[in-house]
Amino acid sequence: IEGRLRRRPAPWWQARRDALLALAAQGTPRYAYDPATVRARARQLEAVAAVDRRFYAIKANPHPDILRLIVDEGFGLECVSAGELEHVFSVLPGLDPELVLFTPSFAPIGEYAIAFARGVTVTLDNVEALQQWPDVFRGRPLWLRVDLGRGEGHHEKVRTGGLASKFGLQVDRVEDFLAAARPLGVRVTGLHAHLGSGVDTPDHWREVCDELGGIADRIGSIDTIDIGGGLPIPYREDDEPFDLDAWSAGLAEVKAAYPAYRLAIEPGRFLVAEAGVLLLTTTQVVEKGGIRRVGADAGMNVLLRPALYEAWHDIHNLSRPDGGEMVAFDIVGPICESGDVLGHHRPLPGDTAPGDVLLVADAGAYGMAMANTYNLRALPAESVLVESKE
Ligand code: LLP
Repeated sequence: IEGRLRRRPAPWWQARRDALLALAAQGTPRYAYDPATVRARARQLEAVAAVDRRFYAIKANPHPDILRLIVDEGFGLECVSAGELEHVFSVLPGLDPELVLFTPSFAPIGEYAIAFARGVTVTLDNVEALQQWPDVFRGRPLWLRVDLGRGEGHHEKVRTGGLASKFGLQVDRVEDFLAAARPLGVRVTGLHAHLGSGVDTPDHWREVCDELGGIADRIGSIDTIDIGGGLPIPYREDDEPFDLDAWSAGLAEVKAAYPAYRLAIEPGRFLVAEAGVLLLTTTQVVEKGGIRRVGADAGMNVLLRPALYEAWHDIHNLSRPDGGEMVAFDIVGPICESGDVLGHHRPLPGDTAPGDVLLVADAGAYGMAMANTYNLRALPAESVLVESKE
């Protein structure tokens, strides 16, 4: 770790150590969020001129304060279940339904009816639902989600395209969709694709935009092209930060070829991942067979990403910031599964001891949102930091 070039600026939490330790003293496991970081990310995306509409994928982190902040920044919200729809309208009374997009997958048909009743924009990705429940869709505008034939993303489990994936209508069935929609008076006004999450090639969205533009030209009734979310963040010290300038330039270029359409995006992770940290308390420090393990008071029950995707999160001992000699530890949780490991072979201070506070970085996206009560362990607490006045 020492001596390696640091490409990223110091994370916000380094300057908020006292506040975080005070929160940890109120109890762990606990997620803590920094609103200023969310706002900064939102503003970076607002500055991208080619994009006309921005929806935040609330599945990444539906904390009410975060939703309010992001909507205040001019974003709409993307929801994938009736539960998420109810949540956004209850957190933000009077929310304009125009700002809400409903993009479910294989949802019960009743959830589409709820979305139409709310007046939000609905995305559908198969012909069969139109045929089976014509009365639900009759006379409604729809956005059509297509499968561009490939998936992208940081792990196989987050790639949402290609024939092996459940998402999206095959492009060669668009005509069938239109044929089923026409007699119902269903007008297809948007075209949507989301190929996966944590895609680290800025050109990806430019290609998606170009492909959707071509399909939209053939459909004729489209006013909006939605190129999905999937923007990555640098989880590892030597990950390059996402090249927003290249992303933005690519979009501007391809958009010029399709001036008739408004361009929409729906990022989740990019807005919130770096804004959140997970605070844990160490339980036991054990050596067995030459492997040193630090136990934490929560593991895959509160942060599933390492177990599910072998995802990387930096882990620090917040109680010992100038920790002297660093030693490699496996950081494990209390769950009765061998996969309950938050990080293998991670450097922590050699004197790490029970009661220390660990900080798991970049946990603001798909952290609390995927936490569960396995082994009947309680869900973590959540705190939003008070913004420091500068
Ligand atoms: N739009 C659609 C249709 C999506 O399915 C998703 C994420 C997004 C937008 C937002 O994607 P983002 O910008 O956050 O990459 N639990 C996984 C990620 C699953 C993403 C599911 N869909 C993880 O922790 O990496």
